[in-house]
Amino acid sequence: MRRIEALGRISEERQRLTRTFCSPAMRRANDLVAAWMREAGMTVREDAIGNVIGRCSVHGPQSKAHSPQSARPSPQAVARSAEKVLLMGSHLDTVRDAGRFDGALGVILAIACVEQLRRSKARLPFALDVVGFADEEGVRYQRAYLGSRVVAGTFDPADLKRKDADGVTIAEAIRRFGGQPTRLKLARLDRSQLLGYLEAHIEQGPILEQENLAVGVVPAIAGQARLRFRFNGQAGHAGTTPMHARRDALCAAAEFVLAVERCARKRAGLVATVGQIQAEPNASNVIPGTATLTLDVRHPSDPVRRRAIARICDAAQRLCAARKMNLAVEVIQATPSVPCSRRLTAVLKRAAGKHQARVIGLPSGAGHDAAVLAGITPVAMLFVRCKGGVSHHPAESVSVQDAEVALSVITDFLMLLANEYE
Ligand code: HGY
Ligand code: MN
Ligand code: MN
Repeated sequence: MRRIEALGRISEERQRLTRTFCSPAMRRANDLVAAWMREAGMTVREDAIGNVIGRCSVHGPQSKAHSPQSARPSPQAVARSAEKVLLMGSHLDTVRDAGRFDGALGVILAIACVEQLRRSKARLPFALDVVGFADEEGVRYQRAYLGSRVVAGTFDPADLKRKDADGVTIAEAIRRFGGQPTRLKLARLDRSQLLGYLEAHIEQGPILEQENLAVGVVPAIAGQARLRFRFNGQAGHAGTTPMHARRDALCAAAEFVLAVERCARKRAGLVATVGQIQAEPNASNVIPGTATLTLDVRHPSDPVRRRAIARICDAAQRLCAARKMNLAVEVIQATPSVPCSRRLTAVLKRAAGKHQARVIGLPSGAGHDAAVLAGITPVAMLFVRCKGGVSHHPAESVSVQDAEVALSVITDFLMLLANEYE
C-alpha cells in the first residue's frame, strides 16, 4: 500500500493524478518501479518503447515448504523449462484525474509476489518477468495498448507519426523518453518462450462488492472501438447571426451525444461514451464552426458492437443532413473481444478457491493489456474488489485485506502452475 501511495503521487499535474505515455512523470514512475524490482532481486530492463521489465529467475526444484508431496519438478523438467517465462504485471500509465490502483496494483502485486517467493525460498521451474506497460489507457495519443502491442509484436509502425495535442509524434515522444522508436520490432517477445501472462487488476465494477468477495477470475475481455466525429458547420458572430441562419456545430454535436446515449440504453450490455468534445474556435461570442468529439463503444459481442456503431453513424449522418452540415468520422482503434485462457483461468480459480469459499467469473467491460497479450500467449486475469466499483476516479480504493488475498492467490497460482509443470 505504501508503494501504491508513492506511485500515486507521481503525476504530470499538480492537483490530480495523470500519468501519460512517455511523459516526465512516466520516467519517474519507471525509475521508482525499477528500484522496487531491483530490491526484489530482479534484473531490470526498459524496452524500446519504455515498458519496464524485471526478470526473476528462481529456477530449480521447489523447496519442500512449497511443493506438495506429489510432483517435484524433475531436473529434466527444470532444464526444459529454464527458458520458459511467465509474464505478470499491468500498466503504469493512468487516465486524467485517475485513481491510484488502476494498473499500478497489478505491477506492485507482481513485485510483492516475487519478494514473497524469495523470502520463502520457493523454487519455480520457469522464470518470471514482471512488466509495467508504458501505455494502456491511450490518453496521450488515443491509441490504447502502445506498450503491450510492442511486446506482442502488433504495434502498427504507422502510429509512430500520430501526433498528440502539442504536435509531438509518438516516435519523438519515445526518443525524448530515452526509447528507440526504430527498434520496436526487436522488442517483441518470443512467444515460444512464454508460458502465459497473468494480470491482477481492480474490477472497476460493483459485482465483487455486491457478492462480498475479495477476488474473482475473468473469462473474457470486452472488445472496444474508439472513433472521432467531426461536425463541420459555420462559425459566425454570436450577436448578429439570426438563429434560422446558423449552422452551429456544437448544437449538432449536442444532439448527437444524446442520440448516442439513447442508442446504448436500448441494448443490454452495450455502453457508449462521448468522453471528449472540443468546439472551435472556442470563443464565447462565436458560433462554433466545428465540433470534434470522441466515441467509445463496447459490448461483449463484436457483431453487436459493430451494429451499434453503424446505427450511431447513421444517426449522425441524418442529423447533419437536417442541419446542412458535413460530418467526418474516423475509426481510431477497434479491438475484438478476447477470451482468457480456460486452462490458466482454471488454475487461477483453484488458487483463489484456497482463499475464499466461492470464486466467480466476471467478464471485463474494461480493456486490459491482457487482451493484447492474448494474441501471443495464454492469459488469465484476477479481479480485485474495489470500493463502490469506482475507477478512473481519485476515489478508487482497495482494502489491504483484499490486496493480501490477491497476493496469496497469485503466489498459489505460481505454485500450482509449477506443479503442473511436471
Ligand atoms: O478504457 C479502458 O477500458 C481501460 O481502462 N483502458
Ligand atoms: Mn483504466
Ligand atoms: Mn487498467
